[in-house]
Amino acid sequence: MFKYYLAPMEDYTGPAFRKLVFQNGADLTFSEMTRVEGIIRNNKPTLAKIQVFDNTPVELQLLASNESQLEKYISNFKPFDGFKGFNLNVCCPSKNIIVAGRGGAMVKRTEKLNKLINIIQKENYSVSLKISLGLNKFEKENKVYLKCINETNANYYIVQCKYASQKSTEPNDYSILQDCVDTKKEIVANGGIDNLNKVNKIKKIGCKGIMIGKAAIINPFIFSELKTNSKVTSNLNQKKLNDLVGEYEKLSLSYDENEKYFQNFLKVQKSKKFE
Ligand SMILES: Cc1cc2nc3c(=O)[nH]c(=O)nc-3n(C[C@H](O)[C@H](O)[C@H](O)COP(=O)(O)O)c2cc1C
Repeated sequence: MFKYYLAPMEDYTGPAFRKLVFQNGADLTFSEMTRVEGIIRNNKPTLAKIQVFDNTPVELQLLASNESQLEKYISNFKPFDGFKGFNLNVCCPSKNIIVAGRGGAMVKRTEKLNKLINIIQKENYSVSLKISLGLNKFEKENKVYLKCINETNANYYIVQCKYASQKSTEPNDYSILQDCVDTKKEIVANGGIDNLNKVNKIKKIGCKGIMIGKAAIINPFIFSELKTNSKVTSNLNQKKLNDLVGEYEKLSLSYDENEKYFQNFLKVQKSKKFE
């Protein structure tokens, strides 16, 4: 069955928001990028990023590169209701992360990725990779993303259809997806997906699902709208939205989660766009 995923988004996709989009049609959610070294050090703000309060289906997204740190975390990890596996961030465009050979710079480091994947799979947990098309146009043209998909053994791949240095205003390139699907690995498409036409195009290529980020913060009902083949609404039903906002605030307070998630959501709702 074709699947609909909520993308990991730092400071947006906290536990309460994940539950709300799950109730509104998302099949699987992802926690925001969390550094394994912070978890190992018991850094409180880091641990808060992977705290869960309910059984919403979730993959925990990790930024990992040091094998012994990852091994330490995974060997002590206790699965919980709703836990569906780990996701490795192989796409982050932040300069300090790229310089350290991590995030988007990891797409080329397939040997390293396989070591990290093996550590997780050894404990019988599923691991997906969220990859970009490489660091820059040159890497995209050299299809480093295809090499990454072919040479690594993750359970499945989420392909963000841009390279790391591309601006948010530049369009996503869905034409690369066919090659990815032809590897016979399971591919989920991500980037700029906000209407039924794009979903149908991606389905036809043979992807197993889509992942939505920004459009879900703007319209948290997008998953159920897409699933029922209805037109994605640009003007949200105000009563429906008010009810969701009320529910979000209540949930957020009951989870005692960082209020930044709810406040950032409200900011987007005010302007209906990302600044
Ligand atoms: C504010 C913001 C925070 C993000 N944080 C993360 C993150 O923690 N981990 C990650 O893999 N991607 C992160 N992303 C990228 C998204 O997951 C997604 O790949 C990207 O926004 C493209 O999808 P979209 O066009 O549907 O938003 C972030 C994007 C935004 C705008």
